[in-house]
Amino acid sequence: MMQVSVVGLGKLGACMAACIASKGFSVIGVDVNPVTLRRIQSGEAPVVEPGLAELMAKTKDHLTGMDDYSQAVLQSSVTFIVVPTPSEEGGGFSLRYVKQAAREIGRALRKKNSYHLVVLTSTVLPGSSAYGVIPLLEQESGKRCGEEFGFCYGPEFIALGSVIRDFLNPDFVLIGQFDQRSGEVLESFYRCVCENKPPVSRLGLINAELAKISVNTYVTMKITFANMIAALCEQLPGGDIDAVTSALGLDSRIGPRYLKGALGYGGPCFPRDNLALAFLARQVGMRATLAEATDTYNRTMADSLVKRIASLLPAGATVAVLGLSYKPETCVVEESQALYLAQRLASAGVPTIVYDPLAMENARQVLGRTVKYADSLEQCVREANALVLATPDKEFARLGNGALQVRSGQMVFDAWRMLRGQYENNADTPYFALGIASPGQNMPQHLEDLWSESLQRAV
Ligand SMILES: NC(=O)c1ccc[n+]([C@@H]2O[C@H](COP(=O)([O-])OP(=O)(O)OC[C@H]3O[C@@H](n4cnc5c(N)ncnc54)[C@H](O)[C@@H]3O)[C@@H](O)[C@H]2O)c1
Repeated sequence: MMQVSVVGLGKLGACMAACIASKGFSVIGVDVNPVTLRRIQSGEAPVVEPGLAELMAKTKDHLTGMDDYSQAVLQSSVTFIVVPTPSEEGGGFSLRYVKQAAREIGRALRKKNSYHLVVLTSTVLPGSSAYGVIPLLEQESGKRCGEEFGFCYGPEFIALGSVIRDFLNPDFVLIGQFDQRSGEVLESFYRCVCENKPPVSRLGLINAELAKISVNTYVTMKITFANMIAALCEQLPGGDIDAVTSALGLDSRIGPRYLKGALGYGGPCFPRDNLALAFLARQVGMRATLAEATDTYNRTMADSLVKRIASLLPAGATVAVLGLSYKPETCVVEESQALYLAQRLASAGVPTIVYDPLAMENARQVLGRTVKYADSLEQCVREANALVLATPDKEFARLGNGALQVRSGQMVFDAWRMLRGQYENNADTPYFALGIASPGQNMPQHLEDLWSESLQRAV
């Protein structure tokens, strides 16, 4: 069985290493963080991700951690680079860590006398492989790419919270290949690892690099489109985003996924990939106006909801923000709309109490003393006059299934329409949902005038 090394054992790399090991490969993990290495060595998960701890425990004998690139490269035939590519001012991705890793891998390749495949998994912009990473590997190894070693760009389309399932069951595998041989080695590797026989798309390096960020830019555009329609629904009497998207999603050109109409997108990938595409466009003398508009609109989401809440809230009322992470079942708060919402409420002077099942500590680092932190969902609900469901965490379904009571008169703002079935049209609970017109919403007067005027004209 092929031996594999994975450089960078963070949120993606640790899961990849464990998944690859679970398929019987011997995996050597390399990281610069000693705490991460200690965890790997003792068979523990270095990051929080559902299923990872169990997989690490199961694959303990197939997975080792070290900080020695040479040994890792010499003892394996494929090396994946999964180090951070942080966003830079202006939207591009820094290759700083990728280059550090490539330099070390190149030096190790110099000592090797058999073929080795280097796979760059970190998200990069078009041209990074051909003009940044491969020349460095060649320089440090003294070898030619395509002869003594091969190179692929092999990005992953995973979501935090389902990294293991997504890695093992991808919609498709995207491979940017330097040459046929490199692509073939990587394709046959993925065929052993993936559980769902996914289609494999093998492209040149530039096109694969562009395809990777295009996927996320497209998805964010679709999410934002639904959010825009949801905002329109709120302005029209009887407007209901769920009704509209249930029809829209039936059109095979559109499809139902990512068409929710709720709070905007967030997290460590979507916002930055979108901005990176816009950055790329500017570098080649054009404007990716669609990507820019998506980002601009997305950044208004928290403010719009705060405005709506503030217009309905009695003065001095305390608001509970339920959910702080950028999506359920993760502790990550990077670019989280829920966190932005809490931040905006607090800075608008609204007394705010917050609760999240996993993200309290991370949220505390950002929100500091501007809000109150509840120890439990119960406490958060008890101490507030109004509740905002900011993430669709399944724990909050307790508010709708009788496990936890909403007090009579307590307002509910439901950004994900989780409790619609329970509270809509409930006389005891003033219920407002994102994407649904408020009860009693009137047709804007000028629009009513416009239609009646045209009726007169028609008559
Ligand atoms: N996390 C995601 O959801 C996701 C999804 C798709 C793509 N990606 C991409 O994958 C890459 C990694 O992301 P992540 O979320 O796993 O990052 P992360 O910050 O969670 O982990 C990166 C790891 O790399 C290690 N590292 C840094 N420099 C190193 C070096 N020179 N040598 C060895 N190890 C080094 C760090 O110690 C850390 O353990 C990024 O380019 C990211 O854009 C991430």
